[in-house]
Amino acid sequence: MKLEEYLSKFVGLKTLYEEVEQNFLTKGLVHHNRNHILRDLARGIIIGAEEGANMKVVLAGVLLHDIGRLYPESGKDHYSVGGEVAPKYLKHAGFTEEEIEEVVHCIRCHGPRGLEEPRTLEAKVCYDVDVLSCSVGYIGVARVFDYFMREEGMNVKQMVGFPSGRKGLRKNFYTETGRKLGEGGLKKAKKFWGELNQEFAKEEKCIRKIIPDYEGD
Ligand SMILES: [Fe+2]
Ligand SMILES: [Fe+2]
Repeated sequence: MKLEEYLSKFVGLKTLYEEVEQNFLTKGLVHHNRNHILRDLARGIIIGAEEGANMKVVLAGVLLHDIGRLYPESGKDHYSVGGEVAPKYLKHAGFTEEEIEEVVHCIRCHGPRGLEEPRTLEAKVCYDVDVLSCSVGYIGVARVFDYFMREEGMNVKQMVGFPSGRKGLRKNFYTETGRKLGEGGLKKAKKFWGELNQEFAKEEKCIRKIIPDYEGD
């Protein structure tokens, strides 16, 4: 089923979609932009439909998963802020209290550094969508570099140590469909990070033989 069909099937989803889309367009973030949301919606549809999840909750969760990034002035992580601001959007679109609670859970646990362990099928789908979007394959690697170097001002040396900074004992994937879709790409990405690490260490070693106080970047 196409996105447009889901938007007309569920009451309120189209309103939510339009409001969120407008917000992302207005803020104009470099990486967490409208295309990021669209890619994730498509994967939310692929995984959610295959897993038999409640698609209204999945799609609202995907739409709002990074909404916290539009409120950098709060100074908090985007999972907490997202969970705090999402009910306002959802109420406006006519979601019930129960649906709101489920969507907030999806937001709070959607990433590897999320605040909660995903306990519902819908939150598991949102988590896997996020993994596919930012950790899988060469595209995942490219997007991680793009985001952290352009938006967080990191250099290559800081990036080299980055993937090992995963918090907690999160699984790679929480759904069978997510695993099938992403397993190969995740291996590819891990191999790349490992090889990058080795190459960087080799370069530092070689240069320090000639210039011992070289710090590198
Ligand atoms: Fe995201
Ligand atoms: Fe996120």
